[in-house]
Amino acid sequence: INIILLGPPGAGKGTQARRLEEGRGLVQLSTGDMLRAAKSSGTEMGKRVAEVMDKGQLVTDEIVIGLIREKLETSDAAGFIFDGFPRTLPQADALGELLRNMGQKIDAAIEMRVDDEALVARITGRFTCGNCGEVYHDTTKPTKVAGVCDVCGSHDLRRRADDNEESLKTRLLEYYKKTSPLIGYYYAKDLLRTVDGLAEIEEVARQIDGALGKES
Ligand code: AP5
Ligand code: ZN
Repeated sequence: INIILLGPPGAGKGTQARRLEEGRGLVQLSTGDMLRAAKSSGTEMGKRVAEVMDKGQLVTDEIVIGLIREKLETSDAAGFIFDGFPRTLPQADALGELLRNMGQKIDAAIEMRVDDEALVARITGRFTCGNCGEVYHDTTKPTKVAGVCDVCGSHDLRRRADDNEESLKTRLLEYYKKTSPLIGYYYAKDLLRTVDGLAEIEEVARQIDGALGKES
C-alpha cells in the first residue's frame, strides 16, 4: 500500500513514517531527507537547494518530483510512505500519475493535525541521528544515554539548520499557502484520514493503524 503523511513542520511525519516502515515493511520516502543528503554531499543540486531550505522555503516542484520519480523507478518495495511529499498541487498530480504508470495508487493520505504553538516546542527541541536517522526530542523523546543514539549507538547527533524560530515561521507560511490545499484535494478523492498529532507518539501510531485498517 502507499500512504501519504500530511502535516505542518514538526507534526511528527518522520517519527511515524519510521514506525510504519518497521511495522508494515513499507519504504519511507522523505524528500526532506533526500534534499539534505544532496546538500551534505555537495552536488550541484545540493548547492542550489541549500539556501532555499535553510530559509524555510519550498524548493521547486521540478527538483522534488525528479527525486521521487528516480526512487520509484529504481525501488522494488511493496509500498511507500510519502513523508513531506507531495507539498503542492502540481506535486500531488505528478505523484498520482507516477503511481498510475506503475499500476499502483495512493491508499490513504493521513492528515496529522496539530496547532502552531506545539510546533515551535517540537522543532526547537528536535535532534536526529546522523547515522541511522532516528528522530529525538530534548524533552519528549530523549536518548537513554546522553549523546548516544539508542538505535545504532552513534555519537553523531545533529540539529537541522532550518530548525530555528525564524525559518520555522517561513515553513509554516509555506505550509498554509501551498500544502494545506492538499487536505481538500485528498478529501475530495475520499482518501483523507485525520489523526490527532498532539497526542503521544504511541497514541498517534494507534490512530494511524486504526485509520489504515488491519495490518496488510
Ligand atoms: P522536511 O524535512 O520534510 O521538514 P518538515 O516538513 O518541516 O517536517 P519536519 O521534518 O520538520 O517535521 P516532521 O513532521 O517530520 O516531525 P518529526 O517527526 O521530526 O522538509 C525540510 C525542507 O525541505 C522544507 O522546508 C523544504 O525547503 C524542503 N522540502 C522537503 N520536501 C519538499 C517538497 N516536497 N517540496 C518542496 N520542498 C521540499 O517530529 C518533530 C519533533 O517532535 C521531534 O523532535 C520528535 O521527536 C517530536 N515528536 C514527534 N511526534 C511527537 C508527539 N506525538 N508528541 C511529542 N513529541 C513528538
Ligand atoms: Zn542512530
